[in-house]
Order: sequence, then structure tokens, then C-alpha cells
Amino acid sequence: MPTFKLDGRDIPFEKGDTIIRAAHRMGIDIPHYCWHPGLSVAANCRMCLVEVAPPPGQRPLMLDILAWDKEKNDYVVTRKPKLQPACQMAAAENMDVKSESSSEVAKARSQVQEFLLLNHPVDCPICDQAGECRLQDYWLEHQGTQKRMRDEPVHKPKGVVFGPTIVYDAERCIVCTRCVRFSAEIAKDPVLDEQQRGNLTEIVVSPGRKLDHDYTLMTEHVCPVGALTSSDFRFKARVWFLRTARTICTGCATGCNAYLDYDPRTMTPYRHRPRDNMAVNQYWMCDEGMLSYARVTKGRMLEPRASGKPATMEAALAEAKRRFAGVPKESIAVVFSAQHSNEDNFALYQLATSFLGTTDLFVSGKAKGKRDDILMHEDKNPNTAGVKKLAPTARSSTHVVALGADLPGAAELLEAPLAKLAGLVTIASHDGPLVRRAHAVLPACTWAEAEGTFTNSRGMAQKSERAVDPRGDARPAWELVGILGEALGYATRWKKLKDVRKAMEPESAASAAPAGV
Ligand code: SF4
Ligand code: SF4
Ligand code: FES
Repeated sequence: MPTFKLDGRDIPFEKGDTIIRAAHRMGIDIPHYCWHPGLSVAANCRMCLVEVAPPPGQRPLMLDILAWDKEKNDYVVTRKPKLQPACQMAAAENMDVKSESSSEVAKARSQVQEFLLLNHPVDCPICDQAGECRLQDYWLEHQGTQKRMRDEPVHKPKGVVFGPTIVYDAERCIVCTRCVRFSAEIAKDPVLDEQQRGNLTEIVVSPGRKLDHDYTLMTEHVCPVGALTSSDFRFKARVWFLRTARTICTGCATGCNAYLDYDPRTMTPYRHRPRDNMAVNQYWMCDEGMLSYARVTKGRMLEPRASGKPATMEAALAEAKRRFAGVPKESIAVVFSAQHSNEDNFALYQLATSFLGTTDLFVSGKAKGKRDDILMHEDKNPNTAGVKKLAPTARSSTHVVALGADLPGAAELLEAPLAKLAGLVTIASHDGPLVRRAHAVLPACTWAEAEGTFTNSRGMAQKSERAVDPRGDARPAWELVGILGEALGYATRWKKLKDVRKAMEPESAASAAPAGV
């Protein structure tokens, strides 16, 4: 692989790489605002300037400048190396690039930073981006000086509602155009553009339109400053109080890799954001997936139920036992859930096949929904591929153990003869048809409250970490399956998740797909 030198270090690069992309791949950060690895190059912020030595025998590119001469007490014409934007300059073999080691680059970064802040309102105390803002970080790393301009800064519109999910503050905007390029290139909806020139430039929504495509929250995510804020997250939390778990989005079968940010003091999740994984979601997530973190708190089943009424766990289990006592295995069916992890389903599979002895196996999940050619899959379940081997059979049963609250997939079993069912025990994290019709309900954890593995539409088993503590009486579904099994008289109780995973080998979660970053 060809290489070039960056501050004396050999950097390998591929054909078509720019300096910044090759450095980024090696984990070296060249400061940048407008460059994003998933978007086209705009080269408009000039924060990534580097010094490039000419090939041997060629003259360096120089720039005439005016410099203040103290002795002459006047400006004099002098020269300095012409710096190049690392985000635009193609990497070439044996190129000698100076980034951290060039005093000219350090000066340029400081000046670009000061320029970008000339008209900036510096409302960090009330800005949602504070704590993860590049203007803050780069000021500290590359500028560190007080503002010299004493004039009134240019004022521009604030609190502009771009659409149902995004609010724009033109004074904070550095016009990097990431949001414009994201909408046009990735969301395939060129709904944003620039208006005006120079320090009057602002981002606007196309006349007659709203920013309302399916990836609007990504515009806020790619914004390197606090100019775009999400109506959902705005003014809700300070990011330095949040902790993060590496999760998998359960919004559809794509299985986008995500970060779930939560407040550990209240165990409240606040946002979902993409975790880069080139093999699955690259750098992106859809709005539906980013907002799906709310399912951790909304519509939950937080306490056991017996005969439709809130009950203790003991009462719910006693009801299950009473309903299932002496029932022949031919009359029992089991419903797996494409919403739940492989571990949860495997525990139920073990109970069904090894202990209950039933072969009447169904898979339920959410109904099909919107799809696109970007990320969104029509299958709105994160683990259909993981449970598909438990193929449904079509035979009517009188007794059912169900995982998950959803009806699709189990409808043929339950819809018509439901009233005739003599026993329905549901293990579910949320309210739903299978919960409302159950004789006993055991409240289960959501994906954010329990570790688990989900197999996406491409067959990749991906691990999702536990973020928050279980709410209410919820417990991991695999644990509830064991508790239920024990109540029904079978020694199925798994003590730990690793016991379930061990039993799952060789199809274990250990064969997880390449992890994102
Ligand atoms: S709103 Fe953010 S992403 Fe868009 S141009 Fe301004 S600074 Fe860049
Ligand atoms: S495409 Fe699917 S997996 Fe990805 S963020 Fe959206 S809902 Fe979640
Ligand atoms: S990153 Fe903005 S000019 Fe290179």
C-alpha cells in the first residue's frame, strides 16, 4: 500500500483517499468542521489546513501576505507557505504533510477558529450542544485567546422551526453545509440550502417545504455545532451527565448500531444516536429508530397480572400453574417474538421443546411498515432472522405461552379461537394484544434494560448492551421463562445470561458480527 508522511509518521492510503480520510482511518484527527467521512467534500470551513512540502526539486507553494513590521511601524509584504485543505487534497505517494508539527498550521487553525467565532453568540450555557461542540473543543485545543472584535456581532434568526423535529439557530451556524449535503446525498431530499452571502449566510428550507424526510434527526447529529437542535432532546439534559451504552436499534430488521444515552441518576434514556458500522448502517440512523428509545418508558408492562388484574409475581405464576396443570402437550403452543433477543427466544425454545414437549411453535412480531433504499426495512422487528428457524405450524391449541405482546404472526393461532383459549401466559415488556388477552402476564425488560443479541436481516448476530436498570418489576425475559418453567414443574431456571448463552452454543451470541465503533 502506498504511504505518505504525516508529521513524520507513515500513513498508508488507498486510491482516491484525501489526506484527512487516510489519517482518519489511522485514528489521527485533523481538526475539521465541514468534512464528514460519509459526505461529499465541501472544503469551506478551512479548519483542516495542513502544510504540504513540495516534491523534491519543485518550489514550495507560497502566498504573499501583509505582516505588521514593528520597526517600520507599518505593514510589509512578506511570504508564507500556502496551506492546503486536508479534506480536499488527494493523498499522494511520498507526500510530506505537516499538521501538528507546523507553526503556520497552528497559526491558521487559531485564526480560522477566531474567524468562525467572530459573530457567534457564544450561548453555550443554554446550548444543547455544549459539552460535545467542536467550537468549544477546538477553541480550547487550537485558539485559547479572548475575542478581539468589539463590534456588535451580526444578528440572525434564532429558534427557526425547520420541521416537526428540528429547530435552527442561524447565529450558531458556521455554514459548514453538512446538513445540506446530508439531506441531498443521503436522505435523497435536497430540502435545505444556503441563502445570502458572507456573514449573512444562513441555512433555509426550500420554499413551501418542511424538513420532514425520514432522516431529519441525522441533520442535527451531523451538525458540528449547536445550530440544529432536536425538538425531542432540546433543553432536556446536559450531555456531561449522560452515560452511554452500545445498543442495537430494535426499530426494524436492519439492526442499526446505536448509542443509547441515559442519565444514570434517574435511569432515564434521553436519546439514540448512530454508532458507526460500515457493514450495517455506516454513520446513520432513521428518525423512527432514533426516537425508538422512548419505548423504554412508554407503553410498558411494569407489573405482573393475573386474570387481567395487577398481581404479585406469585399470584401470576399460581394462575399460570392452575391453567396449565395436567394439560397434554398436544394442546400447548408457544409463541416466540421477533421483537426479543436470541437469548430470550432460546430460553423459551428450550422450555417448549425440552420440557413442555410442544411442537406447536409460532413467531409473532410487529406488522410490516415503511421501507426505503437507505436503511429502513419493511420488517419492523429486530430479530426475525434469529427466530425464523422456529417456523410456525398451523394447528389450533388451547394453551399458549407467548413472548412479546404483538399479534402479527400469532394471529392465526389466537384471533379466532382466542375466547376459547383455556390458558394464555404472556411474557412481555409492553402492553399489546397478547397482554390484554392473557390470563397471566410476567413483565419483561426492554432491549435497553437487558443485554441480548439480535440477528438482523443480513444474518448478522449483533450484541446490544444493557443501559438502564429494569423499570418496575420487569426482569429479563429469559429469566422469566426459567421462573415460569419452574412454576410449571420443570427445572429450567437459568441463573445467569451466560448459562443461556452456553446452552445456545454453537449458535451462540459469541459469533456476533463485527462490532461498530
Ligand atoms: S446548521 Fe449545522 S450542519 Fe448545517 S450548515 Fe450550519 S453548522 Fe453546518
Ligand atoms: S433503519 Fe431500522 S434499525 Fe436502523 S435506525 Fe431505522 S428503525 Fe432502527
Ligand atoms: S474540513 Fe472544512 S475545509 Fe476541510
